[in-house]
Amino acid sequence: MTATTEQVLDPAPDVPLSAALRTGTREDHEAAERSTFVERLVDGSLPLAGYVDLAAQQHAVYVALEAAGERLAAAGTDGDLVFAELVRVPAIEADLAHLLGDDWRTRARVLPATAAYVARLDAVGDDLPRYAAHAYTRYLGDLSGGQVLKRMIERHHGLRGDGVSFYDFPQIHKLKPFKDVYRERLDALALTPAQRADVVAEARVAFRLNRAVFADLAAAHGL
Ligand code: HEM
Repeated sequence: MTATTEQVLDPAPDVPLSAALRTGTREDHEAAERSTFVERLVDGSLPLAGYVDLAAQQHAVYVALEAAGERLAAAGTDGDLVFAELVRVPAIEADLAHLLGDDWRTRARVLPATAAYVARLDAVGDDLPRYAAHAYTRYLGDLSGGQVLKRMIERHHGLRGDGVSFYDFPQIHKLKPFKDVYRERLDALALTPAQRADVVAEARVAFRLNRAVFADLAAAHGL
């Protein structure tokens, strides 16, 4: 039996989806934190070019993620998970213009693992459970560990605001209550057991896709 069949047995139907996601991706999260590229970003030994390349990969990913969110919202099927406060594409574009110049679109490259991540988002992003999995993985990550990364990047590369605005959420005054609301929205989704299983399985796919991007970035920068 696969995780996508209707007969799937939910191992813990009483557990809220947000808790199932946290538990189901714990090992993937630890592996992402331990990836060489992320470790080098945190300890300051990654050259600025590596961070700029990361921003270019994030641009491609968020264009696809946020296009899927817009399609779901336009159809009225976004499960109230699409928030204007979370939209990242304009901030990444401002960061890339600051870091690479006005011609950043011609200078930013998309690595193979990023292209695969974008292809996955394009393929499954119109399915609310799978969109939820990808949005959870990125946005709750940006609101959590992303804030740690921001401080490290600022400290190690002397950046302030410009160039790291991706990590700023000016319309969100307190991150913790916002994350709680996001988790409540996840928990309120009306999903079948099979769809719940799909969300957790797809979040694990999302983490793996992120790790593959980190691996490509590490290779591209000789780490
Ligand atoms: C150095 C790197 C990282 C650090 C230090 C870090 C740290 C953290 C911390 C402290 C939390 C808990 C926040 C809370 O409970 O409110 C968290 C949550 C989270 N992080 Fe990370 N993280 C890192 C990298 C990543 C990466 C690379 C991703 C995925 C691309 C990610 C995705 C998430 C998600 C989805 C959550 C929410 C977990 C949940 O409560 O359900 N993190 N992170």
